[in-house]
Amino acid sequence: MTTQKILLTGGAGFIASHTFVALITAGYTPVIFDNLCNSNPKVLDRLERITGIAPLFIRGDIRDAAALDAAFGAHAFAAVLHFAGLKAVGESVEKPLEYYDNNVRGTLELLAAMRRANVKTLVFSSSATVYGDPATTPVHEAFPLSATNPYGRSKLMIEEILGDLFKAESDWNIARLRYFNPAGAHESGLIGEDPQGIPNNLMPYIAQVAVGRRAQLQVFGGDYPTPDGTGVRDFIHVMDLAEGHVAALKYFDGATGLVTVNLGTGKGVSVLQMIAAFEEACGKKIAYQIGARRPGDIAECWADPALAQKLFGWSASRTLSDMTRDGWRWQSMNPTGFLD
Ligand code: NAD
Ligand code: UFG
Repeated sequence: MTTQKILLTGGAGFIASHTFVALITAGYTPVIFDNLCNSNPKVLDRLERITGIAPLFIRGDIRDAAALDAAFGAHAFAAVLHFAGLKAVGESVEKPLEYYDNNVRGTLELLAAMRRANVKTLVFSSSATVYGDPATTPVHEAFPLSATNPYGRSKLMIEEILGDLFKAESDWNIARLRYFNPAGAHESGLIGEDPQGIPNNLMPYIAQVAVGRRAQLQVFGGDYPTPDGTGVRDFIHVMDLAEGHVAALKYFDGATGLVTVNLGTGKGVSVLQMIAAFEEACGKKIAYQIGARRPGDIAECWADPALAQKLFGWSASRTLSDMTRDGWRWQSMNPTGFLD
């Protein structure tokens, strides 16, 4: 059992709120730092209902050095899990400066504050997007990296900044975690993904069709060189992803250094397979239409998850039907997300 305090930047968001639960379960004391630009404070009550513990919450922006210093002054953090960031690919093309400012400058401010506070263990939310259009699957950590949009480039830049930092100051412990496609929700149905406006991602879009908020799903492309012609991704249950962060933290109890690790299941699921699994979970037909490809999309991408197993002793254990069951429970209990 540990009582270590962990700072969660972006802690009110989708993945970090689930990680909050996993950290409490593992005996840590997480502290949420979030400016709520893409999350709802109601998540804090929901986290209390799930865990029985009222979350420690600081409303602040990672670009605000004084707010960060105040947080590090108030709590003796053992490590930082850095989730805060803007993540909409399309919006990043429209607003590149905002994305670089928030994601890259925000991370630089965070790193400077960590150094001032002498907190040098960091777990960073990177993404499989840094692989660009991988030549083959499964995708291994040593594959070449590239970016096709400002969001992806911001992740790549941050990965490189972290690499340079570690080269210069080897007393840092850094995990760059490359997430594949998070899906599903906590099994309580009390927290989940609550996108603002039209969902960009597949699972929340399907869920909103199922609950009657949207008429039908557009399947982006039916002519990919995949078994059924639709895109194939590595969907990972968000609680598996959350537990991956706990495993990364525990890794640094006994090891030091910089590691770069895929968090995925190692299995590809097509868009049509995801629709069928969701229909099974919700007991309804999902209306969909197969249309044009979405610019910038790739045909298929799934992880080689062996390194996470080797280093962290972690692998995803939940199934596709767990993801759709839990995703549907969240959506059906909260048809308009945290507005309910
Ligand atoms: P999210 O938008 O739900 O959570 C991000 C949180 O960060 C939000 O609560 C937001 O209010 C907060 N935030 C943003 N900018 C901030 C700032 N300047 N200061 C303080 N708080 C700020 O997104 P998520 O899906 O939970 O993603 C979490 C992280 O994982 C992001 O860095 C994202 O890029 C990365 N990631 C997400 C996915 C995905 O498909 N969801 C895939 C790969 C990587
Ligand atoms: N799709 C549809 N219709 C939709 C939404 C998605 O057919 O309305 C398809 C896409 O074309 C793709 C698959 O569903 O084939 C998955 O699309 P998502 O948008 O859910 O996920 P992506 O793989 O495109 O991207 C996501 C995040 C990125 C992240 C990447 C890897 O949005 O930020 O996973 O982690 F980088």
